[in-house]
Amino acid sequence: MNRPIRMALTKGRLEKDTVGLLEKIGFDCTAVREKGRKLILPVPDANLEVVLAKANDVITYVEHGVCDMGVVGKDTIMEMGGKFFELADLGFGKCKFALASKKGWDFYRGYGIKTIATKYPNVARKFFEKKGMDTEIIKIEGSVELAPLLELADGIVDIVETGTTLKENGLEVIEDVAPISARLIVNTVSLKMRQAEIESLIEKIKNHI
Ligand code: PRP
Repeated sequence: MNRPIRMALTKGRLEKDTVGLLEKIGFDCTAVREKGRKLILPVPDANLEVVLAKANDVITYVEHGVCDMGVVGKDTIMEMGGKFFELADLGFGKCKFALASKKGWDFYRGYGIKTIATKYPNVARKFFEKKGMDTEIIKIEGSVELAPLLELADGIVDIVETGTTLKENGLEVIEDVAPISARLIVNTVSLKMRQAEIESLIEKIKNHI
């Protein structure tokens, strides 16, 4: 038998939702559930191996072909891009990219260049380029909501899920940028070399979404 199909999962919520999905199919994910600090876990019977990684690294491992497939958020795909096939929307990990600023703030007022803070500079840049708007993009690593409050930025482009973080910090959505959910990505060479196995796995996954 070939080496197991390697599937990189984004650690955390997407990992848990994917394990739930694999179990619905009938795969035994006990090793993943009881992983401790282990990062590569077998899913016996399915000839599958789960690799636990950070979102950006899921794309890196899949692009380089050391993992055949991966589960990663559309947010990371939009920011990083890369050469792989995006073959399914898994329907979980749903949230959105949105432009937000201080409540009641007339974001589009005036002609000055707007300053935007974000963890996703490529997404933000493309969004404003499409509008033909000049912006200064400032990369922030987390708690991006701070930037307008501290008057570093006019607005933020960030992930909004429940909207609680915006609300509790006196911010509001100005405009939705893009919907986000978990996607199944596949290495281009793996899909050719192990087409039957990968397609049958994707079929099972799609039937249980
Ligand atoms: C994300 C995001 C928002 C928050 C949105 O941050 O950047 O801050 O979640 O969720 P909500 O709409 O349900 O409130 P995360 O918790 O990943 O932390 P970070 O800001 O440090 O990246």
